[in-house]
Amino acid sequence: MTQRSIGIIMNGASGRMGYRQHLLRSILAIRDQGGVQLSDGSKVQVVPMLVGRSTEKLRELAERHGIEHYTNDLDKALANPDFPIYFDALITQARVPAIKKAIAAGKHIYTEKPTAETFEDALELARLARAAGVMNGVVHDKLFLPGFRKLARLIESGFFGRILSVRGEFGYWVFEGDWQPAQRPSWNYRKEDGGGIVSDMFAHWNYVIENLFGRIESVYAQAVTHIPTRVDENGKAYEATADDAAYAIFQVAGGTTVQLNSSWDVRVHRKELVEFQVDGTLGSAVVGLFGCEIQPRNATPKPVWNPDLPETHDYYSDWLEVPNNDSYENGFKVQWEQFLLHVLEDAPNKYDLLAGARGVRLSEKGLESSAEGRRIDLPPVTL
Ligand SMILES: NC(=O)c1ccc[n+]([C@@H]2O[C@H](COP(=O)([O-])OP(=O)(O)OC[C@H]3O[C@@H](n4cnc5c(N)ncnc54)[C@H](O)[C@@H]3O)[C@@H](O)[C@H]2O)c1
Repeated sequence: MTQRSIGIIMNGASGRMGYRQHLLRSILAIRDQGGVQLSDGSKVQVVPMLVGRSTEKLRELAERHGIEHYTNDLDKALANPDFPIYFDALITQARVPAIKKAIAAGKHIYTEKPTAETFEDALELARLARAAGVMNGVVHDKLFLPGFRKLARLIESGFFGRILSVRGEFGYWVFEGDWQPAQRPSWNYRKEDGGGIVSDMFAHWNYVIENLFGRIESVYAQAVTHIPTRVDENGKAYEATADDAAYAIFQVAGGTTVQLNSSWDVRVHRKELVEFQVDGTLGSAVVGLFGCEIQPRNATPKPVWNPDLPETHDYYSDWLEVPNNDSYENGFKVQWEQFLLHVLEDAPNKYDLLAGARGVRLSEKGLESSAEGRRIDLPPVTL
């Protein structure tokens, strides 16, 4: 008989990501559309089981959204054969032991990034999953940003010719918390609590660069704590022990140089909070979260450097906006559907725990590069 439903254990479902992106916008949205559609057109409904520490919170969520299953007992959840998928949106420090338990229970694993705090742990998770023969996947949401989807389309079409370089700016000003409350949680600025912009963003940059431009062969980074003291959620000053900005150069197989600034200490003077400029022999593009502008070789102006004359040419007007030509669904939901198809009908999935481990390695080696003031090679990772 065709399978009609699949149970998903959602650990950390009441957290910021667990609730907003994964439960609300993904699993409940899939439930409301009648399930995930298989290649033969039939649908498999999703059945979530909420797991967390506070039964009160879970009950409230379950009642609000008509969810039957919830528990604060992870072992009990893992022992239930009707729930073959384990999803993890816990704080990063709590992730490795929880995923190990889930693998030991034979569950398929889907998890938020970073998959672990150290490369060693991240690689061990990938190895354990491989040995247990369970399917596994890691969130890679930035690739689903409409601007990056348009960029992928440009690359596939051959628009750029040979891609020479990529320059990216990610960031915005995060208030210190004294005269205006900070718009990010204080743990982000404490190393001992898993904070730091390198561990947060390099896990993303790894799959973004790998999938758009190629394998990362080396990293050089300078990680800095620009603002040494911040004020927390309770109005108490604390020492910011983690990096809040990182200036990095990634060398990509095939010769493309990718230079990315990630910072919580910059004031935005661009259209969007992330912006990449890609320059190729045949054309260039500037992409953001949503927007994407291009300038082909044939329409490239010919500037002449003359510091004695004020600039009269409007360089911004030389660019052409790329139309949507597509509808862009929530990236977290699309990823969930892809992972469910991976589990249900063995559809391909390259964003697995090994890919997640490469992301953790990039953060680790980025920090090492910064501490030692040298470029670090990144040989291929094998299980
Ligand atoms: N993909 C992305 O763009 C993105 C964005 C933000 C965060 N994240 C990742 O998502 C994860 C969760 O981040 P968040 O911002 O939702 O955090 P959060 O603090 O809002 O939620 C964390 C969850 O973990 C639970 N938890 C906390 N301490 C725990 C412990 N000791 N044992 C068991 N459970 C514990 C909390 O109850 C909560 O449910 C992190 O790994 C973070 O790196 C990813």
